[in-house]
Amino acid sequence: MISRDLTKAIEHLNSGHIVAIPTETVYGLAARIDHPEAVRHIFTTKERPFFDPLIVHVSSLVQAQQLTKEWNVCLQKLAETFWPGPLTLLIKKNDQKVSDVITSGLERVGLRWPSHSLAQQVIAQTGPLAAPSANKFGKTSPTQAEHVESEFRKENIFILDGGPCDVGIESTVLLVNDLNGIFELSILRPGHIKKTDLEKSLQNLNYRFVETVEKSQAPGQMKHHYMPQVPLIIFERLQMSDVDLLEHIQKQLLTLPDEVEQVKIIKPQGEIEKVQELILSKDPRQAARELYSKLREVSQAQPDIIIFKKRSYHQDESWLAVFERLEKAASLIVS
Ligand code: TXA
Ligand code: MG
Repeated sequence: MISRDLTKAIEHLNSGHIVAIPTETVYGLAARIDHPEAVRHIFTTKERPFFDPLIVHVSSLVQAQQLTKEWNVCLQKLAETFWPGPLTLLIKKNDQKVSDVITSGLERVGLRWPSHSLAQQVIAQTGPLAAPSANKFGKTSPTQAEHVESEFRKENIFILDGGPCDVGIESTVLLVNDLNGIFELSILRPGHIKKTDLEKSLQNLNYRFVETVEKSQAPGQMKHHYMPQVPLIIFERLQMSDVDLLEHIQKQLLTLPDEVEQVKIIKPQGEIEKVQELILSKDPRQAARELYSKLREVSQAQPDIIIFKKRSYHQDESWLAVFERLEKAASLIVS
């Protein structure tokens, strides 16, 4: 049920229910972190495996510090610069306040202070909220209340409507490892806040970026994610037109596994006849904002496949986060 009633949303959360809330990135499926049953309910509703941890949302720096057992100059600088906003910091958790269910047994909790004013007003009245994106596991994330409703028709969830999300893709997830004053940073998920933005804010600190992270530290980094209802094919170089190419795609799609890391791979139902192109704005900011709703829109036209053509201007760092989503959402990349 879609509603603008903030008081009701808060009441539902305080009485141990899950509620979908707007944030500036995507809609989240939220529960109070001190209601363990509600937290479990998030996983079962999303059909999300328990090995994939949840981000906890706060509405102040003090609240973030209460949930953690480390705080250093690097975290302080990042939080001051980018919060409230689309940055999730992975910080050693306070075991009394943050359960192992939330972090899937990891010692760190992902924390984020969202900038959306409704999210802030809710958290101010409920305390910290665990919230993954409000979609079924592996599927396209929601950037409008209506997306959440169509995703959870059967579950009949209370959805607080905050309008379309401004950023449109999920937060940057950053691991900060304090090696006695030298900070090792790893971006586990790229987002609106880019590596160069982080570098600018850390100018006076001793830090380095490390590209590879042990899989155990990043259990949510699946090969596939964000998948629409119809197979998405990315063309890196080729022009889409001739019949041979369609046949080639059809054959390749048939060889795909049904599932990878518990994410179902989307394949065409029969012969490829109807093709729909996904066209995004040339401005990366706008492209991120419209990505998920456009993916849903083109799927609704029920083509056999969706195609997306990669262009040379997509190489820029500003496109990295959008392409991470597109490539994971794709059933096939043709280069
Ligand atoms: O913008 C966002 O981050 C949105 C809004 C609702 O805040 N939330 C979101 O949550 O995208 P979710 O669960 O869809 O994605 C969170 C990602 C997952 O890949 C998860 O594995 C990773 O962050 N993550 C969360 N906590 C973690 C932890 N303690 N250690 C490593 N990765 C973690
Ligand atoms: Mg998600």
